[in-house]
Amino acid sequence: MATLNFLTGNQGKLSEAQDLLGPLGYEIQPFEIDGEIPDIIEPQSESLTTVALAKIAQGVELLAASNRLHESLLVEDSGLFIDSLPEFPGVYSAYVLKSVGCEGILKLLDKERGAHFKTVAALWTGQAVEVFVGTCMGQISTEIKGQEGFGYDPIFIPNDGDGDRTFAQMSADEKSSISHRGRALRALFEYLNGTEPDVGIPKTDP
Ligand code: IMP
Repeated sequence: MATLNFLTGNQGKLSEAQDLLGPLGYEIQPFEIDGEIPDIIEPQSESLTTVALAKIAQGVELLAASNRLHESLLVEDSGLFIDSLPEFPGVYSAYVLKSVGCEGILKLLDKERGAHFKTVAALWTGQAVEVFVGTCMGQISTEIKGQEGFGYDPIFIPNDGDGDRTFAQMSADEKSSISHRGRALRALFEYLNGTEPDVGIPKTDP
């Protein structure tokens, strides 16, 4: 099985990547240096891609500094974008969730409830950086619903779902089948599956 290091402090993101890519033959392990998840500086930027590329650049420097440049590294940056509040919370999604929470978002909205999630995943293959994007269109619910998932999941109803259930009312598999992260990671898998022999990701188990 091939191993991918995932640089994230978010257990929800890690679990989703493990659940999706594990059965496809990729072991996703948290990226650690000396047993710790390294601190990464996120730049102030209006663009998830800029943030993801800044994170992967720092991660690759850390790999190089620890003589692990041949290893793979995955980072991702995600955001919720609400149609009636252009670019909000967007790249500030983490800050807004921490400060006003899902309840605060619900208070801001009236009739217009369209929104989408976007994930930009950047992968260091051991030789180069590749970028994969996934989006998921949906609506912000009128109330908090469900116990699964993380972050904004209890208020996001994906259009591709089968009713008015939020991500937090879905199993991990069901969320992944239609989510922004699921789409980005399936694109990453398809890339690896097509080009894996050339990209230098070491096999831990032949
Ligand atoms: P980050 O900057 O990519 O870590 O994520 C921004 C914010 O969006 C964090 O507060 C996450 O909890 C939230 N978030 C990211 N992905 C998801 C998701 O799939 N569902 C719900 N919230 C998410």
